[in-house]
Amino acid sequence: MKSISAICLLCCMLLSSCNLIHGCNKLKHNFYEETCPNAESIVLAGVKKAQHQEARLPASLLRLHFHDCFVQGCDASILLDDTTNFKGEKTSVPNNGSVRGFEVIDQIKSELEKTCSGVVSCADILAIIARDAVVLSGGKAWKVLLGRRDSLTANRTASNQFIPPPTSNVTTLIAKFKAVGLSAKDMVTLSGAHTIGQARCTSFSQRLYNQSGTAKPDPTINKGFLQSLQQLCPQAASAGSSNFLAPLDLRTPTHFDNRYYLNLQAGKGLLNSDEVLYTTPGFTRKYVTKYGCDQEEFLDSFRKSMIKMGNIKPLTGKKGEIRHNCRFTNSGL
Ligand code: HEM
Ligand SMILES: *[C@@H]1O[C@H](CO)[C@@H](O)[C@H](O)[C@H]1NC(C)=O
Ligand SMILES: *[C@@H]1O[C@H](CO)[C@@H](O)[C@H](O)[C@H]1NC(C)=O
Ligand SMILES: *[C@@H]1O[C@H](CO)[C@@H](O)[C@H](O)[C@H]1NC(C)=O
Ligand SMILES: *[C@@H]1O[C@H](CO)[C@@H](O)[C@H](O)[C@H]1NC(C)=O
Repeated sequence: MKSISAICLLCCMLLSSCNLIHGCNKLKHNFYEETCPNAESIVLAGVKKAQHQEARLPASLLRLHFHDCFVQGCDASILLDDTTNFKGEKTSVPNNGSVRGFEVIDQIKSELEKTCSGVVSCADILAIIARDAVVLSGGKAWKVLLGRRDSLTANRTASNQFIPPPTSNVTTLIAKFKAVGLSAKDMVTLSGAHTIGQARCTSFSQRLYNQSGTAKPDPTINKGFLQSLQQLCPQAASAGSSNFLAPLDLRTPTHFDNRYYLNLQAGKGLLNSDEVLYTTPGFTRKYVTKYGCDQEEFLDSFRKSMIKMGNIKPLTGKKGEIRHNCRFTNSGL
């Protein structure tokens, strides 16, 4: 008797406590197989259309998944619009005037609502889009784990706190990734997303004129590269020029390859947080060198780290909701 009840107790514990780490409702590949079998093809069509409209959009869309997952988990909190009595993440320091691509999400979501209303979460849309953005830019495919649900809230303070600033050194970068359960290797690998997309002068101009308050440029920048960036971003930044754009990968800005890591080795990383991965001796430099000479290794590691990032604290089961419009909670927040 005693052993039977002990076994029962153990069973109950296994059944109910499997959510201590990942939740009983773990993400899975075929989550929409029954409820919305065309979900992934609808998303892919939307991303293709966006890429055709503007070559930069895949990059902008990939970044949204990162900025979503680092703030209270991958729950589409970043997509909630500010309203008169609600201030969300879109206007946080890392996001304001910089995150983009929301119209693409709206378009894809409305297609999905037509086919299978109230089924596919905005958080999952972001995860699928991120994969498609990489693949359509030349990266390697992976199966996206699905079943995330959408948050009922957003958190601007957390957005400011958890997303690393572009002035970060290696210590800060590692710490910010560790805070969400990602390793230093994941950090170097995921930084390779900067093989596509653009950054505004305001994100790197301290390096051009006044690195760490020295009133001098960052000495690690390649001289010719420095001059061209100084031309693009004058020191007396008018309101306009601080928004001028430079490619994060100056050689192949719309192609998902390992050039980013080669740029770093040539002193041609755009952000401080990029270049320090190479100029700081140690672990991160080792990976920059490795990825620079082995594109396959980079692309394989990248998809592994993306799956890890996509697993950050998803809402599953009955938590959260499936939004009908990604910009607002269903109760209208
Ligand atoms: C390692 C720490 C990171 C820092 C400090 C950082 C910072 C930045 C900054 C400052 C920009 C330019 C924003 C602007 O000026 O408007 C940017 C752009 C971008 N970031 Fe990151 N980022 C990091 C990691 C990541 C990760 C993990 C991903 C995705 C997996 C990512 C994807 C992108 C993409 C694709 C762009 C270009 C977006 C566009 O063209 O619209 N970044 N990042
Ligand atoms: C966001 O940027 C806009 C335009 O650049 C600015 O007017 C606004 O004050 C910023 N919002 C916050 C919360 O910083
Ligand atoms: C928002 O994030 C901050 C910083 O991480 C945290 O202290 C605070 O509790 C969060 N607010 C809510 C309502 O979750
Ligand atoms: C890295 O940056 C942080 C925050 O700005 C600073 O406190 C720390 O001293 C820096 N660490 C190194 C090794 O430069
Ligand atoms: C350079 O930056 C430091 C703070 O980092 C600031 O005190 C100083 O005024 C700046 N100098 C110039 C020339 O902008």
